[in-house]
Amino acid sequence: MKLLHIDSSALGANSASRELSAAIVARWKADVPGLSVQYRDLDSDPLPHLDGNGLAKADPARAAESENVLQQFLDADVVVVGAPMYNFSIPSTLKAWIDRIAVAGKTFRYTEDGPEGLAGGKRVVIASTRGGLHADAPSDFQEPYLKFIFGFMGVRDLEFVRAEGLNLSPQHRSDALAVAHAAIGEPVAEAA
Ligand SMILES: Cc1cc2nc3c(=O)[nH]c(=O)nc-3n(C[C@H](O)[C@H](O)[C@H](O)COP(=O)(O)O)c2cc1C
Repeated sequence: MKLLHIDSSALGANSASRELSAAIVARWKADVPGLSVQYRDLDSDPLPHLDGNGLAKADPARAAESENVLQQFLDADVVVVGAPMYNFSIPSTLKAWIDRIAVAGKTFRYTEDGPEGLAGGKRVVIASTRGGLHADAPSDFQEPYLKFIFGFMGVRDLEFVRAEGLNLSPQHRSDALAVAHAAIGEPVAEAA
């Protein structure tokens, strides 16, 4: 079984989403003997913005990197994503990664009946963190976007582990993180 672990927070060791994504991965490792884990830190090892040269595959090294990122996603049975809210959406580093995995003919295709996701059959767990409170609010362009784009690619098994209100006060932060840690599910039981 293969797990792909992605982090995107720019806050390093102070990052709540890194803390949660690591806890989710640790849970999977403990439950699944021989689990293969691949990790990409999009803050220290970012992908460039997708531009015209990238789309045209003008640079062979860049094209190969994009291909590897896509293949890593396609190969994964489980994808754990640390996704903080930045400016009501996701970090641009995470968007650059999504721009490499949302590829027509690979993870989705258009048909006469509309779009069809091609990357189903995997589980995606998102460690969602935000400074304010946004659940079900019109300010949330982070979780609904992630739910939509992974759904568009065919992912139906999507779970959010959410800690929000993190910047309201130190007490809010510790309470929200405790709730999120407690919400981390049993990997194998839930995946079965
Ligand atoms: C550049 C930046 C933009 C942010 N934008 C928002 C925002 O729009 N709404 C919000 O509630 N919190 C916002 N925050 C707060 C983060 O969501 C909060 O600090 C969260 O803990 C980030 O996750 P992390 O600790 O894993 O980096 C922002 C933080 C940064 C650094």
